[in-house]
Amino acid sequence: MPKLGVNIDHVATIRQARRGREPDPVWAAMKAELGGADQITVHLREDRRHIQDRDLRLLKETVHVKLNLECACEASMLAIACETKPERVCLVPENREEVTTEGGLDVVGNFDRVSESVKQLHAAGIFVSLFIDPDQGQIEASRKLNVEAVELHTGTYADAKTDEAQERELIVLENASQHVLQNELILHAGHGLNYLNVTAVADIEGMEELNIGHSIISRAVFVGLEEAVSEMKQLCIR
Ligand code: PXP
Repeated sequence: MPKLGVNIDHVATIRQARRGREPDPVWAAMKAELGGADQITVHLREDRRHIQDRDLRLLKETVHVKLNLECACEASMLAIACETKPERVCLVPENREEVTTEGGLDVVGNFDRVSESVKQLHAAGIFVSLFIDPDQGQIEASRKLNVEAVELHTGTYADAKTDEAQERELIVLENASQHVLQNELILHAGHGLNYLNVTAVADIEGMEELNIGHSIISRAVFVGLEEAVSEMKQLCIR
C-alpha cells in the first residue's frame, strides 16, 4: 500500500497568477494533511514560477508529515535544500522552457554531477530519491550512487492514448519496479497520475510512495482539497 505524497505546487501557481497572497500553499498543506496526505511535496524551480522560498521555509516549520522537496542538481538549489533540511529531496531535471517536468533525470549521462549532489544532500542528513525514467540503465546508475530511493516517471503511462498502449506502459513500469527492488532501492512513482489511472500503479508490488499533484489540485477546485486528497488516498490504499 503506497503512501501518498501530495504535490501542492499548483496552489502556488494560482497565487502567482496575481502575485498576491492567496491561495496560500501553507494552508493547502494543512488541508492536504487533514485529507490523509502522508507527505507534502513541493518543487522549488529556478524560475520560481510557483513555489517561493518563503513557502518552503514556512512549510518546513508547519508541515507535520514528511516534507519532500523536488529540485534540480544546481548549486543554489542544493544550498537551499541543505539549509532548509526537508526530510526528503527528490532530484529532478529542469528546463526553463518546459510546462512541467519532462522525462526523468539522466543519471547515466550526468553521473558525476548527480553524484556530487547526492553526497552534498547526504552530508546534510537528507533522504535522497532520483526521479528517473523506468529504464534499467538509469536504475543501475542510481544504485551506484547509494541513494535511498528512485521515483519512476509515470508520464508515458499516464499519457498513453489507447488501452493497449497504457497496458504496454504498465508492463514497462512493472518490470522497472522489479529491477528497482532487485537493486535494493525504495520504490516511488509519480507524474500524470489521476483518479482513473492511479490504481494499477498503486498495485505494483513493492510500491512505497506515489507523488501526485495536478489531478488532486484540479479536483479540489470542485470538491475542496481535503476531500480530493481523501478520495485519492482511498484509491491508493483500497
Ligand atoms: N513527481 C515529480 C518528481 C514531479 O516533478 C511531479 C511534477 O511536479 C510530480 C511527481 C507530480 O506530477 P503531477 O502534477 O502530474 O501529478
